[in-house]
Amino acid sequence: MPGSVTFERHDDVALLRLDNPPVNGLSFAMRAALGERVAQALADEAVKAIVIAGADRMFCGGADIREFSAPPPPGAAHLPAILDEIEASPKPVVAAIHGVAAGGGMEVALACHVRLAAPGTRLGLPEVTLGILPGAGGTQRMPRLIGIEKALDVIVGGKLHPVEKALALGFVDECVEGDLVETAIARARRLAADGAPLRRASKLTEHLEAALGRPEIFDDFRKKMAKRARGFDAPYACVDCVETTLTMPYAEALKNERAVFHRLRESDQSAAQRHAFFAEREVAKIPDVPKATPVRSIASAGVVGCGTMGGGIAMSIANAGLPVTVLESSPEALDRGMAIIRRNYAATVSKGRLSQAQMDARLARITPTLDDADLGAADVVIEAVFEELPLKKEVFARLDLVCKPEAILATNTSTLDVDAIAAATSRPERVIGTHFFSPANVMKLMENVRGARTSPETIATVMKLSKKLGKVGVLVGVCDGFVGNRMLYAYRRQADFLLEEGALPEQIDRVIYDFGLPMGPYQMADLAGLDVSWRVRKAQAPNRPAHLRYSPIADRICEQGRYGQKTGAGWYRYEEGSRLPIPDPAIHELIANVSAELGIERRAISDDEIIPRCLYPLVNEGAKILDEGLALRAGDIDVIWMHGYGFPRYRGGPMFWADLVGLRTIYDTMSRLHDEHGEWLAPAPLLKRLAEQGKGFREVD
Ligand code: CAA
Ligand code: NAI
Repeated sequence: MPGSVTFERHDDVALLRLDNPPVNGLSFAMRAALGERVAQALADEAVKAIVIAGADRMFCGGADIREFSAPPPPGAAHLPAILDEIEASPKPVVAAIHGVAAGGGMEVALACHVRLAAPGTRLGLPEVTLGILPGAGGTQRMPRLIGIEKALDVIVGGKLHPVEKALALGFVDECVEGDLVETAIARARRLAADGAPLRRASKLTEHLEAALGRPEIFDDFRKKMAKRARGFDAPYACVDCVETTLTMPYAEALKNERAVFHRLRESDQSAAQRHAFFAEREVAKIPDVPKATPVRSIASAGVVGCGTMGGGIAMSIANAGLPVTVLESSPEALDRGMAIIRRNYAATVSKGRLSQAQMDARLARITPTLDDADLGAADVVIEAVFEELPLKKEVFARLDLVCKPEAILATNTSTLDVDAIAAATSRPERVIGTHFFSPANVMKLMENVRGARTSPETIATVMKLSKKLGKVGVLVGVCDGFVGNRMLYAYRRQADFLLEEGALPEQIDRVIYDFGLPMGPYQMADLAGLDVSWRVRKAQAPNRPAHLRYSPIADRICEQGRYGQKTGAGWYRYEEGSRLPIPDPAIHELIANVSAELGIERRAISDDEIIPRCLYPLVNEGAKILDEGLALRAGDIDVIWMHGYGFPRYRGGPMFWADLVGLRTIYDTMSRLHDEHGEWLAPAPLLKRLAEQGKGFREVD
């Protein structure tokens, strides 16, 4: 029966199985059932030992995260108390773990006296990724079992570890090749017969004694994690709780852990991270592309253009184990592109993150070519040539001739109309956009752009390909800049206007960084290069409506040949060989001159003005995109911003953040800014509607 803990007697051993599909989550009902079954096994005199296992796919994926948003029902079973009972049991308790043991599921296993796991199992304490900490003794039992430093890595790292690693770290006792449950039953029976003392994690002292004279472990760890944990509360709370293993008696530390767990669970950060968890799973659900949609198998791929993006895309494909043929237009370009790929891999090898053998295997999967015909057998071809529509159309027409009829043709265009590109082929239903983010071998986002005629099968296949490449694919519609960049323009435009009104690039960058993004708009522009968007602006200039405000500052910077880091100067200046942005008086003067030319009297811009002015328009653009049906859900937009632009996960993405700020506040501010600064800031109709109804983006169907 689903949602239960089953009880089976195997002679003198009780087998308790967690059974609550899809992940045997510890809902309130499951905890109550576990408590009852443990009590039953303890009370049954014929039972000499207990085995806890999971039904179906896994042992247990942890607490049921969906229940976190609601208060616990009256009299709800208390997991830490149940785990204390398991650990204190005079009858041996063996955990038989297969599939996954995560979070509360791992904590159940930690309370058992022996942990056996099947090959292929993944185990860990990922609570920190949800903005909480292991709240059922995990911060206390894990350090006692494996040592403080290793436990800090496991708890703060939040990863699920393969069984081999768990074994080496010491939180699994044995990896069982044969029948796991049978072996666990036999082991439990033997332990009962032996009558030897049981190993209770909470009673172990060896590792704590070893750490007693070294209180600096914790500060050292805090320093080590500072960069990755910037802005997050939970990693610091995890370290604090592990530290109590040395400063508080066990029972008191357990109470403290529970209190901190509750505080974190109620926090906006945890709500945001839980939203991120579900939003990342939700993106795969596309109403008119049901789960049963046929998916073409992708056994090989092609990439056209081996420049910045094509090279990175080819690496992603090779990294995922697929063969990829890379087509270029000249031997020089091909050699240059392949040399960069080799250099990138070699850099990873020299950092120790890849072995030479792995590098060789990956490189061997990439076949360079100058002959279109070599793409004939590829199941999918991704085009990444220059951003010019006539060129892309010509490339697609050629691909259409040489590629097998069922092959999918994808474009990595960042601004062009996917439908216009598809029209150059005889197979528009098998043409789609796959908008990777730079560097394509690192960034996890793919905006998969659905054209007017893209078929469900093509969409389903490319969404699956994203997953295969280790990326998060988000389906979007055709519009200028698609979802991410269209919102980025809206924010960057206001940042430029703030410069004209009195701010400086370094001030805006600092405020945006402090908000939690990895960098502000000007550091980002210098990193990406200023010339590409300058070219786009020049091309768009004849069609630019005269009544709309336009900032010429970026153009003026480009006119001086300052294209960013690659030319040693852009919005900042750079010392030879350094990436450190140095504020430049020449840019300050250039900005002040533009203000004077435009007749704008410069004023002091407060830090407090910058977030609403830059990020509310970003959210406003997101509202338009949602209303136009170009993104399926507000959560999809959040996933795009978290994975493509580093929007802080602890804020849940811009749309979730906006809901927390309150759409009424955002709408009122946008209305005021619209009055003060003109048309670009007109509130989106959806924002107005939701604000008036007192609703949030999460409530949009
Ligand atoms: N609670 C509620 N739902 C969960 C869940 C959980 N803990 N874990 C997964 N799900 C849901 C997913 O949302 C998904 O639902 P849909 O099919 O409706 O989208 C479904 O279960 C399957 O999940 P996945 O697609 O992720 O399945 P998978 O096989 O790829 O991965 C997993 C399985 C490794 C368990 C992964 O789901 C996962 O990492 N889950 C979260 C684990 C976690 O963070 N646990 C800690 C919870 S907090 C806790 O335990 C606190 C405590 O101290 C008591
Ligand atoms: P790039 O200039 O680095 O590379 C383009 C490559 O295409 C060059 O190596 C060129 O030799 C090759 N090429 C040109 N014509 C060709 C042809 N007919 N056949 C085969 N190869 C040909 O450009 P980049 O930056 O890699 O951009 C490629 C595409 O990716 C563009 O559409 C761009 O808009 C898009 N994009 C770029 C991003 C970036 O950050 N650079 C981000 C996301 C998308």
